Order: sequence, then C-alpha cells, then structure tokens
Amino acid sequence: MAPLVWLVTGCSSGFGEQFVYQILARGDKVIATGRNAATKLTHLEGTGAAILDLDISLSADETALKVEQALQIYGGIDVLVNNAGYIESSPIEELVPERLLRSYNTNIFGHYNVTRALLPHMREKRSGVIGFVGSQAGWMGDPSATAYVSSKFALEGIVECLQKEIAMFGIQVTIFEPGYFRTQALSQQNIQHEPGKIPAYEEFNKAVIQYEKAVYGNEPGDPVKAVSRMIDVLTGTGTAAGKPFPPRMPLGTDGLKVMRDKCQDTLKMLDEWEDFIVSTDFTKEG
Ligand SMILES: NC(=O)c1ccc[n+]([C@@H]2O[C@H](COP(=O)([O-])OP(=O)(O)OC[C@H]3O[C@@H](n4cnc5c(N)ncnc54)[C@H](OP(=O)(O)O)[C@@H]3O)[C@@H](O)[C@H]2O)c1
Repeated sequence: MAPLVWLVTGCSSGFGEQFVYQILARGDKVIATGRNAATKLTHLEGTGAAILDLDISLSADETALKVEQALQIYGGIDVLVNNAGYIESSPIEELVPERLLRSYNTNIFGHYNVTRALLPHMREKRSGVIGFVGSQAGWMGDPSATAYVSSKFALEGIVECLQKEIAMFGIQVTIFEPGYFRTQALSQQNIQHEPGKIPAYEEFNKAVIQYEKAVYGNEPGDPVKAVSRMIDVLTGTGTAAGKPFPPRMPLGTDGLKVMRDKCQDTLKMLDEWEDFIVSTDFTKEG
C-alpha cells in the first residue's frame, strides 16, 4: 500500500509530537504543524517530517491558505489529526468572555477551520480520515474547567454532525476521548490561569492549582500507547484491525469510567423519570 500522508496539529509536545514519530515509523509521510514552528518544532527537523507553521487560532481565511500550502507538500492529505489544544482555567465568575473566546478560537474554531479547509480535497477524492482529539472533559464538567470542558463538548457535537454529513463521500471521522495522559497539557506553563479578582474564589483557585500540580507527571495514561491506539483506529490496523470504524473512542481507565458512569447515570435518570418525560407529548385528547 502507498504511504499515507498525515497532517497533525500541535506537534511541539505530547500526543502531537508522538504522532509524528509513530507515523514516520510506519513508513508514512507527515506534515507536522505547530505555532511558532521556527522555535518550537526544531526537535522534529531531520526526522523526515515536513514542518509547517500553523497556529490554528488564526482566521478561517489564513488557515485555508496554510492548508493549501500543506496540500502542495506531498500532493494531498489522507489523514487529518486535529490534536492541538490547551486548558484555560478559571471559575465562571472570573472567566471573562475574552478568555473563553480565546480558548474556543483554538479548541473549537481551530479544528473547525482546518477541517473545513481540507474537506473539499477529501470530498473530491472521495476518501479521507479525520481524527479529533477530544477529551473525557467532553463528557464531564469539572470545577474551573468551563472553557476547556465546553470546548470539548462542542467538538463532540461537531464530530457527530460531521459523521452524518460526510459518510456519503467515503470520509471517516472519529473523536478520541482521553483521560489523563502524561503530556504537557497539565503543566503550569501550558495551563492558562489569570489571577482571580474575586476574594471568595482565592482558596478555590489555590486548590485547583494544587490539584493540577499533583496530577501533572502522575497521570495514569501513557501517551506513547495512546497514540499507537489512535493510529490503529485511524488506519484500521493493529489493535483495531477487523473492527468497525468507531464513531468515538475513550482512552485510558479513567476515560472509560467517565463515559460509562455518564451513560449509566443518564439511563438511570431516564428510567426514573420516563413517565414525566413523555408526559409532554400531545395526546389524542389534545
Ligand atoms: N494529556 C491529557 O491528559 C489529555 C487528556 C484529554 C485530552 N487531551 C487533548 O490532547 C490534545 C493534545 O494535548 P497534549 O495532551 O499532547 O498536551 P501538550 O503536550 O500540552 O500539547 C498541546 C499541543 O497543542 C499545541 N497548541 C496549543 N494551542 C495551539 C494553537 N493555537 N495552534 C497550534 N498549536 C497549538 C501546543 O503548542 P505550544 O507548545 O505552542 O503551546 C502543543 O503542541 C489536546 O487537544 C488536549 O486537550 C489531553
């Protein structure tokens, strides 16, 4: 089989960086992208990856130009991995709309714009695979995590709609929902805090930072294994060989628990409230 061409966003560290190494090890071609590539992707020079500067929070038009540039590198793209993302941390009262929007510009619009720019190409050749890196946070709210959680919930909706729109063109789409994995996502350098201004949240904010610091470096998930499984799913090989292409895929024991608990709690609530829920339909009597 001819080598696949991959485009991966957010390759300076974590899952993105690991994707680059493992894609190259398969014998495929990869366009490794990241913001400030000249300084932040230097470690990928000489690996065989094509490197492209791409800040996914740019406008839709600027992103489309970048994707056009990416398409020229190998004459096409077979697999897109929408991976880049970061955590903007604050309780809602302290989370000003500008910070929420900044988070959405990367975590939602970034993936939306890159995907939209690539769709005409995949649609024309009637093939392509798109993987979104969502999160268990797309299934569960957490204190101080509104910006991040709501962005990952949004991706869940975008992916479900997209799946139903583009299956007819032979394009496959899935979303991965990792639990905690040992990358730079929870480093204090990458989590964006802004000093809170409301004294009532002072202790809360301290506890959040303490929690983040305690988890960072002790996450249960191994990003090398996660990326290997994601590649298997996206290519239908290895541990995913012979299985139907999944619409979503949690990763890690914690990711599994979050999704299972949510499903079980929701089913329980639906059973307990079923009569109440259906009581709003029109009846024959009106
Ligand atoms: N690790 C986990 O526990 C976990 C769990 C669930 C989901 N995820 C998701 O996994 C994805 C990858 O994160 P990671 O865990 O590998 O963390 P990471 O090591 O912090 O990597 C995040 C990557 O995203 C890039 N990025 C952020 N904003 C960007 C932008 N505007 N344009 C382009 N690149 C941008 C970062 O680049 P810079 O170096 O320039 O900041 C970095 O390369 C994210 O979507 C994250 O939400 C992670």
